[in-house]
This record gives sequence, C-alpha cells and structure tokens, in this order.
Amino acid sequence: MDRNLALEFVRVTEAAAIAAAEWIGKGDKNAADGAAVDAMRDRFNDINFTGRIVIGEGSKDEAPELYTGEKVGKGGKPEIDLAVDPLECTDSVAYGRYNAICVAASGPRGSLFSGPDTYIEKIAVGPLARKAIDLNASVALNLKKIATALGKKVGAITVVVLDRSRHIDLIAQIRKAGARVRLITDGDVAGGLAPCIPNSGIDVLMGIGGSTEAVLAAVAIKILGGEILCRFKPKDEHHAELVKKHGLTTKKIYSAGDLAKGKDLTFTATGVIDGPLLEGVRYADHAIITHSLVIRGQTETMRYVTTHHKK
Ligand code: FBP
Repeated sequence: MDRNLALEFVRVTEAAAIAAAEWIGKGDKNAADGAAVDAMRDRFNDINFTGRIVIGEGSKDEAPELYTGEKVGKGGKPEIDLAVDPLECTDSVAYGRYNAICVAASGPRGSLFSGPDTYIEKIAVGPLARKAIDLNASVALNLKKIATALGKKVGAITVVVLDRSRHIDLIAQIRKAGARVRLITDGDVAGGLAPCIPNSGIDVLMGIGGSTEAVLAAVAIKILGGEILCRFKPKDEHHAELVKKHGLTTKKIYSAGDLAKGKDLTFTATGVIDGPLLEGVRYADHAIITHSLVIRGQTETMRYVTTHHKK
C-alpha cells in the first residue's frame, strides 16, 4: 500500500471526526452520523484511487450511509477495498459519553471480509495470547489459557465487555472464573484492539457486537500480531437471512486472518470523544486539534498523528 494513501486516509477520518464533533451532546444521533458520513464520503472522493466499501453499517436503501458496495474515490489505480465506520459510537457522541472514533480500514481487492452488518460473537487478545483462545471452549477455560499465556493469574486478567443485557450470563461466567470485568457502553473496535496496545489495561474482549466493527478491529489486530475469533450471531430472522444470502454460515469461526488477508493493510482512526485509543477533538483558539492512529501492515508501524486544523 502506497504510504501516501495511508496518510490520505487520515485526512478522511479527521474530516469525519471534526464534522461529528459538532454534534457532541446535542442528542441527535442521526445528525452526528450523517455529518461523519458526508465528510468521509467527500474526502474519499478527493483521492486518486478506486475504493469499494465491502463492509459498512449502511445498506443501499438507508442513505446517507456509506453503503456496502458503494464506490468512492476519483477512480483509477490503485483498486482498494474498504471497511468503514464513519462514526463508531454514535450514541456516545449524541449523548456526550466516553469513547467515539471515526474509522476506516483498507486493503487490496479481495483482502477484506465482505458480509452483512449484523451481530457477531467475538473474543480478541493481544500477541502473547493469540494461540490461547477458542470460541468453542468455555469462558473459564479461555481465561485460564489466556492467563497462562500472559504469565498472570486469572484474577489479574481484565476483560472488556459491552454493557448489554445479552451479556448477563457472559459477565456472570467471567466473574465466576475470577477475572475483572470492564463494562463499556459502546465501542468494541477500540475494545477489541485494546489488548494489542501496550499498557491499555485490557487483556481480552469478549461478547457480541457488530460485524463491521469486527472486521475493522481485525485489520489492526492482524497487523499488531494479536488474534480475534468471531462467529455470526444474527439477532433475528431477517439478519439470519442476510447471513445466508451472503453465502455465509453461523457455524464457521473466522480468525483475524480470515477477515483481513495479507500484509498490505491499513487501519486509520481519529478520536471524536476521548477513549482508550485516542483523545477526542479539541477546540483551541487558533485551531481544531485532532488525534489519529494509523497502523500500516507492510511496516507494522503504529503512528500517532496530531493535527492542528487552522480555523
Ligand atoms: P455504532 O457505530 O453503531 O455507534 O456502534 C456502537 C457499538 O457499540 C459498536 O461498537 C458495537 O459493535 C455495537 O454498537 C453493538 O451493537 P448494539 O449497540 O446494538 O449492542
């Protein structure tokens, strides 16, 4: 992947974050999401490439989302597949809560998993525990093996889980095994990535979240040497049909390598509101300041970019 293209994508997520930040705490999630989507689309369309969204949160009839199958860019080479979440944690922005980012991942044609945006079960860890996880094993056994791999006691393991009623049983099992639980209101891209970030304080992500978020996290996790295992858990009949329509199954377990292939990958995110990965947008007298993370597969670099955008 062209280095310049990776930097072009920072401009995309920065523009989306600045647009979304206008809506912090104003109670209007559609406006926040719409602003991020429009800014992301406009910036992508300024870049010399042919981009194709292979997984995103919208479907074609739900404009203004960047829908799966949508083409972006000025056209020509390179031809790139994109996974996008223009605003990850829309509610956090609308209600002024912790942790929201604008995020995009890219790879050459065919490198990123394409599928419906539905629920998927996830377990994600950092590099040391990458071989310790198994979606078919019990929560207790996973935690025991992760603890061994990390050279810790189970009681010293911290598991991040989305705070949802569907996770009541999972949380009870984690507590019974003796590990710590950190509940988050939203944001399992950052949650999934956290075990790969040194000193994040998070060892594992467990639970059911969005499939787009799983692909986005998988790109970064793959580059950083961690692992994520996922299995579709459609929330209703309609979503179960969508999974089938894509020729997929609820039986298969997908690894980071299934969701993001090869090395020529990029992950780019800009903070809207402070979270475990990034600081949010700041308004200074002279400028709007953004904080972004760019991870490139070819060099395995993590680059933190602070930009002062002249007012
Ligand atoms: P949005 O991008 O739609 O705001 O997603 C926020 C999020 O918390 C994701 O991080 C997570 O994967 C998903 O929602 C979980 O879905 P739900 O809120 O329906 O439980």
